[in-house]
Amino acid sequence: MRTITLVFGLFAIFVALAIPSNDAVIFKLTNAVCKSYNESWIVINQCRLKALRRDIIAFYFNGTVKHPAYDISVNMQLLKKANGYHPWLVNLDLDCCRFMRKPYNPTAMDAVTFKLTNVVCKSYNESWIVINKCRLKALRRDRIAFYFNGTVKHPTNDVSVHIQMYKRANGYHPWLMKIDLDCCRFMERPYNPTAIVIAKLFLDFSNFNHTCPYVEAVIFKLTNAVCKSYNESWIVINKCRLKALGRDRTAFYFNGTVKHPAYDISVKGQLYKKANVYMPWLLKANIDACRFVEKRYNPTAILVANLFLEFTNFNHSCPYVGSKIIDGFYLRPELLRLPFPTGDYKLTLRWFYDKRLQFDTNVSFQFVENLIDQ
Ligand SMILES: *[C@@H]1O[C@H](CO)[C@@H](O)[C@H](O)[C@H]1NC(C)=O
Ligand SMILES: *[C@@H]1O[C@H](CO)[C@@H](O)[C@H](O)[C@H]1NC(C)=O
Ligand SMILES: *[C@@H]1O[C@H](CO)[C@@H](O)[C@H](O)[C@H]1NC(C)=O
Ligand SMILES: *[C@@H]1O[C@H](CO)[C@@H](O)[C@H](O)[C@H]1NC(C)=O
Ligand SMILES: *[C@@H]1O[C@H](CO)[C@@H](O)[C@H](O)[C@H]1NC(C)=O
Ligand SMILES: *[C@@H]1O[C@H](CO)[C@@H](O)[C@H](O)[C@H]1NC(C)=O
Ligand SMILES: *[C@@H]1O[C@H](CO)[C@@H](O)[C@H](O)[C@H]1NC(C)=O
Ligand SMILES: *[C@@H]1O[C@H](CO)[C@@H](O)[C@H](O)[C@H]1NC(C)=O
Ligand SMILES: *[C@@H]1O[C@H](CO)[C@@H](O)[C@H](O)[C@H]1NC(C)=O
Repeated sequence: MRTITLVFGLFAIFVALAIPSNDAVIFKLTNAVCKSYNESWIVINQCRLKALRRDIIAFYFNGTVKHPAYDISVNMQLLKKANGYHPWLVNLDLDCCRFMRKPYNPTAMDAVTFKLTNVVCKSYNESWIVINKCRLKALRRDRIAFYFNGTVKHPTNDVSVHIQMYKRANGYHPWLMKIDLDCCRFMERPYNPTAIVIAKLFLDFSNFNHTCPYVEAVIFKLTNAVCKSYNESWIVINKCRLKALGRDRTAFYFNGTVKHPAYDISVKGQLYKKANVYMPWLLKANIDACRFVEKRYNPTAILVANLFLEFTNFNHSCPYVGSKIIDGFYLRPELLRLPFPTGDYKLTLRWFYDKRLQFDTNVSFQFVENLIDQ
């Protein structure tokens, strides 16, 4: 007997792909219903929504598969409400075992109820990417697969893809879907949009550990937090702690009181990687915080700020005074723009007011990247 658990936000991810992340949209899970039609094969232990923050509602699922399943398919259908729910946009049948065995194989496309009719690829920079293969092949009467083989000749950490769907009506016209996707995480392998959606659905939010599929989630988790005030007449730290929100999610809560206005604030940030002890690694920045909140000027700081600023009330012009909080910050792999190797890390932020050290916020985290069994 095997237990599989998965924690995923299907629709959240679907839309996260379709909408630039900084757009102000409300996109919120409102209900979840699961049902087993055969409790001797699968028992559903958990199927519920939980509010993680005011605007983030997560879906938790935990099912026990009582006998090995070698033949798994899933039908996904998106419905839109308009006096009752109506089928809308997405309807696909996927052979999970096959897709998960080779997530990047574009033949996953054949699981979709669309038929490919043509494919054209072109490299605009053959010194960076050479396209060796780009063609369709009929696998069966109703199954046409897309094969792509490209050689990326130099490593890149910054890959984005622009996707636009067109519909034919006397010539092709833009239709429905338009996506700009930052896919640095999957940079070495080309793939099709459906595969991205599907892969994203499972990779970021699942912890399947099963002969089918061969996929494990990214782990990017806070493991420790230490804060210290060096001058309690200026800043008092009321709270500095981690709290587990789910098996894979630990959030950081900070509450400090700045007792007098601070007009000159700098932050020394340094990332450490553990190898017996923590060694300085890769990122180091000395930031003028008052300048930074006015204009994002340092790429390293932007990287770190993007991860956590929205959980704080730090993003305002100087002076800083009163209650400074970090409310439930957790790490989101999809925001990480760096090819981190698996390991334990520590990010130290040392805060200086008037050029003198006032307090530290040191946070450790674990990163395990095992996206795909290659
Ligand atoms: C229910 O699950 C059992 C395995 O536990 C399987 O043998 C049986 O065929 C399933 N029944 C249906 C209707 O799928
Ligand atoms: C899933 O549910 C089973 C049965 O209730 C439980 O034993 C298991 O610990 C749960 N797994 C997780 C990750 O919560
Ligand atoms: C083409 O690729 C090379 C790397 O091989 C890169 O240095 C160059 O900037 C690229 N040119 C363009 C126009 O993107
Ligand atoms: C992709 O093309 C390259 C160059 O032709 C070839 O060496 C490689 O084996 C191909 N890979 C696959 C998986 O077909
Ligand atoms: C996944 O399963 C294998 C074999 O069942 C086990 O060795 C491994 O520790 C599991 N990995 C995780 C992350 O649970
Ligand atoms: C935070 O990390 C820095 C650098 O390792 C260290 O000097 C400092 O003592 C740490 N602060 C606390 C409160 O542990
Ligand atoms: C401690 O904070 C007070 C403001 O409350 C400030 O006047 C003093 O200079 C600070 N001391 C140090 C060593 O930074
Ligand atoms: C922060 O801590 C202070 C002092 O304990 C408390 O008065 C304040 O309400 C806290 N703020 C938040 C947002 O928790
Ligand atoms: C922080 O403030 C800047 C400038 O006002 C704004 O562009 C940015 O979106 C804010 N970031 C967050 C996380 O609130």
